[in-house]
Amino acid sequence: MSEVRVAVLGASGWMGKVHTMAYQAFPQFFGRSWGAARVAVLVEANPDAARDLAFRAPGAKIMRAWLDAVQDPDIDLIDICLPDSLHYEVAKAALLAGKHVYCEKPLADTAAQARELADIAAAKGLITRVGHAFPRNPVHDLARQIIAEGEIGEIKLFKACQHVDMYGDPLAPFMWRADGALAPTGIVGDTGTHVFSFMDFLVGRVTELIADTYITTPRRPVVSGLGYGEQTSLTGSEAWADVTNPDGANILCNFANGARGVIDFSRVATGRKFMQAYEVYGTKGSLVYTYDEINRLRFYTNDDATGRRGFREIDVGPENSTFRAFLPLPNFALGYNETKIIEAAEVIRSIITGQPMWPTFETGHHICQIVDACMDSARLKRWVTIP
Ligand SMILES: NC(=O)c1ccc[n+]([C@@H]2O[C@H](COP(=O)([O-])OP(=O)(O)OC[C@H]3O[C@@H](n4cnc5c(N)ncnc54)[C@H](O)[C@@H]3O)[C@@H](O)[C@H]2O)c1
Repeated sequence: MSEVRVAVLGASGWMGKVHTMAYQAFPQFFGRSWGAARVAVLVEANPDAARDLAFRAPGAKIMRAWLDAVQDPDIDLIDICLPDSLHYEVAKAALLAGKHVYCEKPLADTAAQARELADIAAAKGLITRVGHAFPRNPVHDLARQIIAEGEIGEIKLFKACQHVDMYGDPLAPFMWRADGALAPTGIVGDTGTHVFSFMDFLVGRVTELIADTYITTPRRPVVSGLGYGEQTSLTGSEAWADVTNPDGANILCNFANGARGVIDFSRVATGRKFMQAYEVYGTKGSLVYTYDEINRLRFYTNDDATGRRGFREIDVGPENSTFRAFLPLPNFALGYNETKIIEAAEVIRSIITGQPMWPTFETGHHICQIVDACMDSARLKRWVTIP
């Protein structure tokens, strides 16, 4: 197979657009040796949104029902960009139909569901991927390499956070992300899973944790037709809906390698349009990252001479993993959409060549275990062990 035929599900949404773009864009940067993809089907349930889909992927079939794409014999890869609560059902149907699956995060509503998906994929020899794109920024490949080569010694402490202010305003409209029926774990599955993906990528498995989750605004006005984070003036006649999943969480965790973690994330941090940061402290050095300087890693090492020690700033560039495919100079900045292009390229390469990649549904399962543990711990108000 030299060309993977893809169906993008939820095609008019934010991720649907980004994934559709990524399949078309990646050969421009990575060349044909990574393979090629053709977006052959776009699935969108909302007829208004679907109206302008055709131009995004010329020649693609436009469908309303995801099951039609799953049953289409001319599709190799099902790409799930649907609301969270559909991920498990659609991924399972796709795997059982013999399709490779690339699923947006969170992989499933529970770890048990994620385990089932990973087992089906393994039994059928299918390629799987979860859409944790942030760690695929080459700056994090460098962080992982520095850790793997022992340059910061044994990791003792991992601190991380991710915040947005989408729901900082108590009058910000209700959307599916706040609905426990459509997004059962709320911010934990939405944003927490991104932080958990960094934990898996940089530190390793989590063995136990204690979490406090909270809802800041129990009811929100319902305004239809708004996208992520969009606001509008209220008329006063809106219906109100209950927020039925967490707005934020604070977590302490322990890793299998003895490191400790301090994590917080929320959608209510007024003024924080997008904040993502981590700090990794080891016995010989440390690493510090913030999304505000998206391709820059701060590295401290005890190997520097006394009196000359301090954090050095490394701007990743063409010498660092996938950066060269995009730009010949450091500090020109790769952004979010490039990480999605890298992700799509890795999925297609893995299908065509069998090259291993991260994160598959195995990693997705561990991340779902962490989500389960957070929800259990918050409910039980105690430490929870991860099997
Ligand atoms: N990896 C990331 O950085 C990232 C970022 C944003 C969202 N996400 C994830 O991507 C997924 C989608 O999020 P989004 O922001 O694109 O949402 P969105 O609301 O913008 O898009 C979802 C789309 O799915 C369509 N849809 C809903 N139910 C459907 C059905 N049964 N059949 C066909 N289409 C249907 C909607 O009409 C909409 O167009 C979520 O799981 C979210 O957690 C991941």
